[in-house]
Amino acid sequence: MSVTIVTTVDELRARLDRVRAAGREVGFVPTMGYLHAGHASLMAAARADTDVVVTSIFVNPLQFGPGEDLEAYPQDLVADAVRAEEEGVDLLFVPSATEMYPDGAVRTTVSVAGLSELLDGRTRPTHFAGVATVVAKLFAIVGPCRSYFGEKDFQQVAVVRQMVRDLSMPVDVIACPTAREPDGLAMSSRNAYLTVEERAAAPVVHAALLVGRMAIAAGERDPVRVRALMAELIGAEPLGELDYAEVVDAGTLEVVDPLQGSLRLLAAVRFGRARLIDNLGAQVAIGDGVGAD
Ligand code: PAJ
Repeated sequence: MSVTIVTTVDELRARLDRVRAAGREVGFVPTMGYLHAGHASLMAAARADTDVVVTSIFVNPLQFGPGEDLEAYPQDLVADAVRAEEEGVDLLFVPSATEMYPDGAVRTTVSVAGLSELLDGRTRPTHFAGVATVVAKLFAIVGPCRSYFGEKDFQQVAVVRQMVRDLSMPVDVIACPTAREPDGLAMSSRNAYLTVEERAAAPVVHAALLVGRMAIAAGERDPVRVRALMAELIGAEPLGELDYAEVVDAGTLEVVDPLQGSLRLLAAVRFGRARLIDNLGAQVAIGDGVGAD
């Protein structure tokens, strides 16, 4: 079966209502396009679990702050349609900005307090409200479904899960593991911004997270020392400019001291035009045994 491109809200709704009326389940993968193997892994998970897979491609202006890369965000609809087809996507929803926001600026927004202000939210104060608003809107358009998100954007998953719980949305949120390049760099549409030299340096982000996780595995329980270790490694890379390197509780995203329970190490580093984020899990059991994902 080949992928069908749908550009209007009404058409997508009508098709998906028919799918559900026939007792079939909808799988939904929201994206901003320029699809890579990370996106493909979400589509494959949706394909495996559900009957009809929808992927949306919409570069959402609401989640870009002033001076960010909205205008430069990479796009390639033809390649994306090929990729979606290869992954067995049934419907590719590609709305225009006016289809999504017919009145221009939206007056109704969704923001998830607390979770949105930490980590990435400190540097990008309006970002997660932009994400929550567009994801709420996409969920309202798609309707009841299982929706697939990447752990690569760990804080985004936390924000979306909280929104779904708080607003009783009829959506099951599924988090999928981060797809990486062979040298450890997390796949991202923004990797396209990297120069050859920056691309060679960028795996330091994943390396620093691994070092942080190893320190915890070796018994380090002081979050400040784990942070300092990661920051030191990233600081030694002249092409990278550290935004943050943190270790937090995986559920609340708040700092825990001493380190215990289910933890997440997260970092954001700027390489030239690209701001890259990545994260890894670590476990410190009550008995102090260490596991990891
Ligand atoms: P985008 O950056 O295009 O990512 C779409 C989905 O792909 C997100 O759930 C993201 O976490 C996932 N993803 C990206 N890189 C990945 C990787 N290396 N491995 C696994 N999954 C990966 O995230 C967004 O778009 C937007 O914020 C969106 C949710 C679509 C709202 O506009």
